[in-house]
Amino acid sequence: MELFLDSANLEEIRFWSERLSIDGVTTNPTLIAREGIRPGEVVPKIFEIIGQDKLVHVQVLAQDSAGMIKEAYQLRSWHEQVVVKIPLTLEGLQAIKALRASGIRTTATGIVTAPQGLLAAKAGADYVAPYVNRIESTSGDGIQVVADLVKLFQLHGLPTKVLAASFRNSRQILQVLLAGAPSITINPELLPALVDHPLTEGCVESFIHNYRQRFGTDSLE
Ligand code: E4P
Repeated sequence: MELFLDSANLEEIRFWSERLSIDGVTTNPTLIAREGIRPGEVVPKIFEIIGQDKLVHVQVLAQDSAGMIKEAYQLRSWHEQVVVKIPLTLEGLQAIKALRASGIRTTATGIVTAPQGLLAAKAGADYVAPYVNRIESTSGDGIQVVADLVKLFQLHGLPTKVLAASFRNSRQILQVLLAGAPSITINPELLPALVDHPLTEGCVESFIHNYRQRFGTDSLE
C-alpha cells in the first residue's frame, strides 16, 4: 500500500512525515497556490523534507497536449522522482500516450469514471487518481469507481495503480482501501481523525494514574 500526503504545506508535510510512513506527496495547482510558493521552489523543499527517494506528484498547467508534454519534461527535470499529473482529457490522453516511452511517470488526474481510468491506464499512465469525494458530491459512487478500476486493472493485467484521492471523511478513506486501492493520497486535515481517539487517551491516562497511585512516581526507575 502506498500512502501520500495531499499537501504543499511544508510544515504540514514535515509534521506528518515524522509520524507516518509515507511514500510521497501529491500536489495540485490549488494546493500550491494556497502556499504562495511557485512549484519550482516548493518541490525541492518537499523532497528535502520527505527524502529524495520518495515521490512527489506535480500537475501540469497547460491544457493542450503539446503544452502538457513540454511541461512534463520541465517538471521531470527538477527531480527524477517527480510524477507528472495530467488531467484526463482528450488532450491529456494524447500527452500520457506520448510520454509513455519517455520514462516520465504520469498520473492521470481528475478521474471521475471507470472508463476514464481504464483508457488512461491503457495509454500508459502509471497512476490514475479517481476523485472520490468530488464524485460523491455529484451523487455518484466514488467508492464503486475505485473498486471498478481496481478490478478492471487486475482483470486486464494493467500495471497502473489506482491512487484514490479527494476525501472528506474517514469512512471514504477506509472504504477505498477495503476496495483494494493500492495507493491513496490524504489531505493532512483528515489525519488527526484517523489517529486521535478519546478511548485511547483514556486508557493511557488510567494506566499512568494507577501506576502513579501505587509508586508515587511516573518514573520507571
Ligand atoms: C489529489 O492529488 C487531488 O489533486 C486532490 O485530492 C483533489 O481532490 P480535492 O481537491 O477534492 O481534495
